[in-house]
Amino acid sequence: MSPSEKVMKTEIIKVNKDNPDPVVITRASEILRSGGLVAFPTETVYGLGANALDIDAVEKIFLAKGRPSNNPLIVHVATVEDAKKIVASWSDEAELLSRRFWPGPLTMVLPKRDIVPENVTGGGSTVAVRLPSHQVAHDLILASKVPVAAPSANRSMRLSPTTADHVRKSLGGRIDMIIDGGPTLVGVESTVIDLSRNPAVLLRPGVITPNEIESVIGSIALLGSGDQAKDGAMKSPGMMKKHYSPQAPLDCVEGELDIKEILQLHQGERIGILKYQSYTPISRDDVVCIEMPGSARKYASRLYAALHTLDEAGVLKIYVEMPPDGEEWMAVRDRLRRASAK
Ligand code: TXA
Ligand code: MG
Repeated sequence: MSPSEKVMKTEIIKVNKDNPDPVVITRASEILRSGGLVAFPTETVYGLGANALDIDAVEKIFLAKGRPSNNPLIVHVATVEDAKKIVASWSDEAELLSRRFWPGPLTMVLPKRDIVPENVTGGGSTVAVRLPSHQVAHDLILASKVPVAAPSANRSMRLSPTTADHVRKSLGGRIDMIIDGGPTLVGVESTVIDLSRNPAVLLRPGVITPNEIESVIGSIALLGSGDQAKDGAMKSPGMMKKHYSPQAPLDCVEGELDIKEILQLHQGERIGILKYQSYTPISRDDVVCIEMPGSARKYASRLYAALHTLDEAGVLKIYVEMPPDGEEWMAVRDRLRRASAK
């Protein structure tokens, strides 16, 4: 059976997010060990896992997602010792950052060891490693006894999943199993920092901010953020400008949205609005207006769910009232900018 066609039976099993049933975890780990694909919750978004040391299993990830083969995957581990087994050198920076932020939403890019197959790294000489804090992810990786390559569990170029149902809608019929551990908490993908360069380079902003990283390892370079470096965004494989996108075109608007003007412009059209500032109910059935939280962490945790909701409502256009430009908003603004890229 080919994961590129919707022909497989996808088993979906609910677990307690803090104390997953070991029987389910064992079953899922056996699927991974025998070369299958399992979607599982992490603290950021759901991942689509395969045995990172099995070239054929990793290939199935690219087929199921429709992902370009030059876009490398993050390898997930359950212990720092296991991270060291897949990298060629564990730098002082890696040691310090892992002590401070692991387990958690930080991915470190380091020189790879030969045992890591080329399709994991997009043919490159570095590998991205992450030690997630989610109990389900941790138990699954530990039980599988192999490093687990896991991109976000969505079709390529689409929104990342923050619930098992998001995964089912996009990959149901293409993968072996989905472990449903409820909605994820962080909501945006991990911060990616490239430690193979000097100084280290921020490739993707996440909830762990540049300041937090700099407080541990000193100055880093900021590339790859949709806001900060429009060209730099292409310097990392997979850091495409357009990414994380809803179906409808999305406009990022700085400052307060002129709701009246928007409604006039789209009479009789189904549109979506993400409101950041004060919210006044809109009395039109064809307008889906979602009030977003004022705190950056909460906004991040709800962002993809809100965009999935607008996708499902079949809106023709999305207007986003942008949150402010401070460091804590970097990840959210980056994902919104990418979602708006043509
Ligand atoms: O939070 C996350 O990181 C989630 C969960 C499942 O862990 N995973 C995730 O994976 O977002 P994915 O594949 O959707 O995004 C991984 C990003 C891509 O932009 C990829 O290009 C980059 O990390 N990446 C992976 N390996 C790399 C490498 N060796 N060098 C540079 N960038 C790399
Ligand atoms: Mg992704």
